[in-house]
Amino acid sequence: MATDWKEIGAVKEAQELAYLMWDKNWDEANGGNITYILTEKEATSLNYTIGSGRKVELQIPDAVRGKYILTTSSGSYFRELRDNPDDLIGIVYIPENGDYYEIAFGLEHGNKPTSEFPAHIATHAARLAIDPEQRVVMHNHATNVLTMTHVGPTDERDFTLALWRLIPEALFMFPEGIGMVPYCACGTQHIADLTLEKMKDRKFVIWQYHGVFSAGKSLHDAFGLLESVDKLCGVYLEVIRTGKFNGGINDAELMELANQWGITPREGYLNV
Ligand code: 13P
Ligand code: ZN
Repeated sequence: MATDWKEIGAVKEAQELAYLMWDKNWDEANGGNITYILTEKEATSLNYTIGSGRKVELQIPDAVRGKYILTTSSGSYFRELRDNPDDLIGIVYIPENGDYYEIAFGLEHGNKPTSEFPAHIATHAARLAIDPEQRVVMHNHATNVLTMTHVGPTDERDFTLALWRLIPEALFMFPEGIGMVPYCACGTQHIADLTLEKMKDRKFVIWQYHGVFSAGKSLHDAFGLLESVDKLCGVYLEVIRTGKFNGGINDAELMELANQWGITPREGYLNV
């Protein structure tokens, strides 16, 4: 017997997480979107007849072909995702050939995947090349990160270093650094292409004056990274507000931590 798509664990988890993120003021109105690549087992259990769903044209990166992807709908209010999954979430099938996808489940009443779907599938393509188990991408307007793009360093190395200096665990969480896509219009193939380049060797990318892209193996992972970065940006903003700063953890101390943990900080970031 086929599984009801809404019974898949990640669907329920995405609904709960969407509400939590709205509650954190990161997903005002329809701000934010989530995608999740189903496991082989989950996909097979659905018994979808390929070709039977609504088709939507889109440029498709090869790495996501043959995959089933859970996505929030364009215009979905994260506050309401728990109450109306049929309209506000769905699963699309990406065919082996052709520049289109099929809406297999959900996204009822003519709804479509998030307008950032091109950037999501581009990010999935980049992350899958690193690790086939990386199946989650989330975007939203995390308040402290967004604020920091307006007042903090605009260069991605300086931005990363500013956060690394605040707490030892920052280096551990993102030794590869945080990528920064300079401001440009969202919902386009152009921003998707820029995000893909940054995501080839990072799991967290900031869109200047807009928000975040966080990738991970699970919703839990991607969310954990996101809340950590947002917390650090909040601390940075507090520090700025006081007008004083002791300088934080210096380059030699960061390198000492890296050696202790056996991790490699992004090349060229530390002067040691
Ligand atoms: P969607 O409602 O299309 O997902 O767009 C929200 C958003 O945050 C755009 O960047
Ligand atoms: Zn957005």
